[in-house]
Amino acid sequence: MITGASSGLGFEMAKLFAKDGYDLAITGSSDRIFEAAETIRELGVEAYPHKADAAAYEGVEGFWDFVSDLDRPVEAAVLNVGIGIGGGSFLETSLEDEMRLISINITGTVHLAKRVVHHMVPNSRGKILIVSSISATTPTPYETVYGPSKAFGFAFAESLREELRETGVTVTALLPGATDTNFHANAGMGDTQIGSSSKNDKELVAKQGYEALMNDIDHVVGGDEKTKKEAEDNRTTSETEKAAIHAEKTRP
Ligand SMILES: NC(=O)c1ccc[n+]([C@@H]2O[C@H](COP(=O)([O-])OP(=O)(O)OC[C@H]3O[C@@H](n4cnc5c(N)ncnc54)[C@H](OP(=O)(O)O)[C@@H]3O)[C@@H](O)[C@H]2O)c1
Repeated sequence: MITGASSGLGFEMAKLFAKDGYDLAITGSSDRIFEAAETIRELGVEAYPHKADAAAYEGVEGFWDFVSDLDRPVEAAVLNVGIGIGGGSFLETSLEDEMRLISINITGTVHLAKRVVHHMVPNSRGKILIVSSISATTPTPYETVYGPSKAFGFAFAESLREELRETGVTVTALLPGATDTNFHANAGMGDTQIGSSSKNDKELVAKQGYEALMNDIDHVVGGDEKTKKEAEDNRTTSETEKAAIHAEKTRP
């Protein structure tokens, strides 16, 4: 099962699972999820699309009910859905939008993870991939709430991984660098340096996440060598310095 699979990284990962013969339950908030299912079926597997709002409790629970009704073991769960909000400082952005971001990126991830863990642990098998971000490794001014929401995802994944170590269920975090999806445009970041700069290839990033999941790696930075070096450098650069560097990339 994959959340946020209508486009971008979720859709790319869906195609990788399909090529390896996995049937897929996928969700997104628009009718594009049904088109994604058509494409996946062309790869020779079954795809079960479900349209639901990941910002709503009923949306998340509804997707889990949909998956449960298939009455099949969930081999892998990719908790990928996430949104960004940029385009202004915290003083200027909308509280309503930020509460929605927290509902999707944090609350919804915890909600679905709870259902998935309760399903997988009794089976003594399963793989969980949580899509975080390189933003988890730095303060993110002008995406003031986004980066911290992704830091949550990273720490949550590593915490859960340790707890589940003896259960047969693995947890992996994917930390993509800026990637060529609809993400920045949807986040209102078209007129920022990062929004208009060249980005990592989504097929490459999805493949790195997929391989890390399959090989039981705790986390992987998604992207080219420059992206991986940036994440490495972030381990030893001060938070204030990283904040200033990030602001140059994200200030409208
Ligand atoms: N692209 C990057 O630069 C980048 C970098 C680091 C991390 N990430 C992370 O990667 C993940 C995937 O993002 P992406 O880059 O692939 O972005 P994307 O192309 O915008 O895809 C987002 C997906 O989430 C779905 N979605 C959005 N809002 C939803 C909602 N309320 N309910 C249900 N589904 C919803 C979208 O489907 P619909 O259109 O059908 O709603 C779409 O399938 C996110 O968690 C993001 O934080 C991305």
